[in-house]
Amino acid sequence: MTIDTSRPVKVGLIGAGLIARQHLTAMSRVPGLEAVGIASRTRAKAEALAAEFGLLHVCDSPGELVRQAAPDALMVLVSPQAMAPLALECLDFGLPLFLEKPVGLSVEEAESVAGAAAEKNVPNMVGFNRRHYSIFQKGLAKVLERGRLLSVIVEGSERMHVARATGRFTDEVLRAWVFANATHTIDLLRHFGGEPEEVCAFATSLHEPLGDQFVAALRFPGGVLGSFTGNWHSPGGWGVVLKGEGVTAEFRPLETCRLTYADGTSETLEPDADDAAVKPGFCGQQRAFVDMVRTGALAAPSLDLGGALLTMRLAGRLIAPVRPLS
Ligand SMILES: NC(=O)c1ccc[n+]([C@@H]2O[C@H](COP(=O)([O-])OP(=O)(O)OC[C@H]3O[C@@H](n4cnc5c(N)ncnc54)[C@H](OP(=O)(O)O)[C@@H]3O)[C@@H](O)[C@H]2O)c1
Repeated sequence: MTIDTSRPVKVGLIGAGLIARQHLTAMSRVPGLEAVGIASRTRAKAEALAAEFGLLHVCDSPGELVRQAAPDALMVLVSPQAMAPLALECLDFGLPLFLEKPVGLSVEEAESVAGAAAEKNVPNMVGFNRRHYSIFQKGLAKVLERGRLLSVIVEGSERMHVARATGRFTDEVLRAWVFANATHTIDLLRHFGGEPEEVCAFATSLHEPLGDQFVAALRFPGGVLGSFTGNWHSPGGWGVVLKGEGVTAEFRPLETCRLTYADGTSETLEPDADDAAVKPGFCGQQRAFVDMVRTGALAAPSLDLGGALLTMRLAGRLIAPVRPLS
């Protein structure tokens, strides 16, 4: 499908939760994308969002949304356990899809959706918004100004007590948390390092059956080294450190960047205006989605279902050796 660039891409949303609100808020800064309708499980929530953001159509099912609102594309923004079934249903419409992560709570589920999308030849994009952080682009550029990227260090410590305490996640989502949420940081290994050529991983379990203590060493193309740690029941959080020639870029929290140079000087970077104003990475990924809908091709650094599947498989390799703590 080609869409005349003189008008915005019309999109229908499925799901009316917190992340739908974030996407609608980001859209106000992306004139190439216009939300025309919404469908969700609880109609009242969809109606409230539609009224707030001026969406013309509120529908009770994805099929009704496609018929009534005639969107050019769909964004599937539902709860983690509903993502894969809804994605499979929406592939049948043949419209380009934006899918929130995780598309599946296991490698097998992600494989089935990626396989169906490839078979049906439907352009698709998965919402790994951190790939679109302007602060990452700026920090990496500074490292590469000085020479090669040498090492990628990722800390992916999830806050399991917080996730449980919210009461927002089902037991199956909490059990599969490594796929449901930890893939955000696991994906950053691939984002910065490329496809790992070797992975040596250890995992133990204090409470979570699929593991909650992780250490991994990785070797990426060109000899770039990587490491991943995750300690899900200890204070900490998410962080990335990039090591270059005479320079270290530290993103901790991920939305900030401090550069330290070999001469002892340091520098702090700021995100761009979009990332400072709305959920970081959301405007960038929406622009990438618009380009994909217009051209049928998804450009780097975005991930389609095939790319997201590689991240899910890497998560699977990190948990494969899990043992209970003695
Ligand atoms: N990229 C990121 O940084 C990021 C951050 C947060 C979340 N996410 C992802 O975004 C997705 C949504 O998260 P959220 O925080 O918005 O969750 P949420 O607030 O619980 O909202 C989920 C929405 O999906 C609807 N829904 C659930 N099952 C459905 C179904 N079978 N058919 C139609 N609608 C259905 C829910 O309906 P009800 O109103 O009836 O509950 C709710 O409106 C999740 O997959 C999550 O992993 C991504």
